[in-house]
Amino acid sequence: MPNTFYITTPIYYVNSNPHIGHSYTSIAADAVARYQRLKGKEVLFLTGSDEHGQKIVLASQNANLSAQEFIDKIVGNFIGLWDMLCVSYDDFIRTTQKRHIDVVQKALTILYENKDLYLDEYKGWYCVPCETFWPPHSLEDQKEPKKVCPDCKRPIEEIKEKNYFFRLSKYQGWLVEYIKTHPDFIKPPSRRNEVLSFLENPLMDLCISRPKERLSWGVPIPFSEEHVTYVWFDALLNYISGCGYLDKSEKFKKFWPADFHFIGKDILRPHAVYWPIMLHALELEPPKTIFAHGWWLVPSLDKDALGEKMSKSRGNIVDPVGIVKKYGQDAFRFFLLREISFGLDGSYSESSMVNRINSDLANDLGNLLNRTITMVEKYFSSVVPKSATPQNLDSALIEKALGLHKTFCTLMDELDFSASISAIWEVINHANKYIEEAKPWNMSKEKNIDRLSTFIYTLVEVLRIVTISISPFMPNASKNMWHQLGITTPFEKASLEDLSIWGKFPVGTKVERPTPLFPRIKL
Ligand code: MSP
Repeated sequence: MPNTFYITTPIYYVNSNPHIGHSYTSIAADAVARYQRLKGKEVLFLTGSDEHGQKIVLASQNANLSAQEFIDKIVGNFIGLWDMLCVSYDDFIRTTQKRHIDVVQKALTILYENKDLYLDEYKGWYCVPCETFWPPHSLEDQKEPKKVCPDCKRPIEEIKEKNYFFRLSKYQGWLVEYIKTHPDFIKPPSRRNEVLSFLENPLMDLCISRPKERLSWGVPIPFSEEHVTYVWFDALLNYISGCGYLDKSEKFKKFWPADFHFIGKDILRPHAVYWPIMLHALELEPPKTIFAHGWWLVPSLDKDALGEKMSKSRGNIVDPVGIVKKYGQDAFRFFLLREISFGLDGSYSESSMVNRINSDLANDLGNLLNRTITMVEKYFSSVVPKSATPQNLDSALIEKALGLHKTFCTLMDELDFSASISAIWEVINHANKYIEEAKPWNMSKEKNIDRLSTFIYTLVEVLRIVTISISPFMPNASKNMWHQLGITTPFEKASLEDLSIWGKFPVGTKVERPTPLFPRIKL
């Protein structure tokens, strides 16, 4: 097994501020990056910003700023949010950086020299917000003279212009065969089927340039004075420019092909169709897995619907900064990853988030930590005692906690964050019941020090295991727990293997004064 791991998020359009949907992809990718680091892997976690194209130009004009001034401002808000959410990316790529522009121009030159690009005149329909050409057959069912974009439903324009095209059609057979023979390439399976059924129709060649007279904010095409690069063709290449493709460096050899591209389901086609063909034409391997997750919706007036899409025009955007200020980054991350299965759509509401915080975080986890530390304080003057021989009640909990390692790894490898969290909570709930059943107050009354020290040691050990396993989801809370438990080894030294070893909690450790981990919230 290679000891490196490369994961990416989409590069976000910096035409407006980030919302909960953007946070979701980054938080999920961050949980995986942290999990892989716990496994001992050398991780490259890449994120960044998509800074070219018409959308950016329109947004900057609306803000009365130059495109560069505008993106510099918005990109700062994205970076600020990632810091706030503890997104531990290793590199941030901006498509206006030289290291990226050079890669785009290199790729264009290779494809042009190999005759995979050609100049042609295009006459047809174009959606400006989506920056997409629509072939006549996709508009067949629209009778009115004014046509709308099949994707975003906004009006589209009829245009005629000379552009460069990429021979997607030449590689269609190869792509279908590749997808069929690589079951892990597109996940979940519903998305794989969607791509395969799309590929049952002939693929149109992809228009990869825009005339400068219509749009100049893009990467110049090296072999044409009159064109810049189509924003999607430019953007997809970030995944290789961000890992050193330009000079085929050691880094590139180490990390390419990427293990995961995390994306939302709306951008499946460019990733699962254009991108692998671009790579194949450049004689590079496709990424190992493209995972398309679902959408966060907001409650709609239609009670039967799961919710409606967030959009500026509907004024229903959920602002992650506000939520984090109110509830903290750990609770927000926990909620997003716990509430729905990765891959499905979910509906965001503040009340369901508060319920999760109160029940799972304040009641179950927070109480377990608080009660345990308070008992170490009360019965052993804050110093963790040595365990005597465990009895049945203790052994059942020990077995449960040690069993977590295997279940947790299997579920995390499958990207089932919600089920991984449930598995951790089974241990937490078992430990809370254990306290009730063991009745430490009686052990204390009877001065049964052996039983009391075994009881306390079992609990702190369980908490050590819980602390490590929640860290991919709640990095701050786990550091806080580590500190309250008094463990002096830096948390960064913890590893997944530590989950399967009983007895690592150093006897004689002095616990800190307990402080509430997640205070209860009144709705
Ligand atoms: N710039 C392109 C990506 C280029 S990658 C080579 C883009 N950017 S985006 O900012 O519009 O969207 C980025 C990601 O946010 C997408 O994966 C998209 O699915 C995700 N989300 C946007 N709204 C969302 C929700 N409401 N819910 C979940 N994720 C959604 O597309």
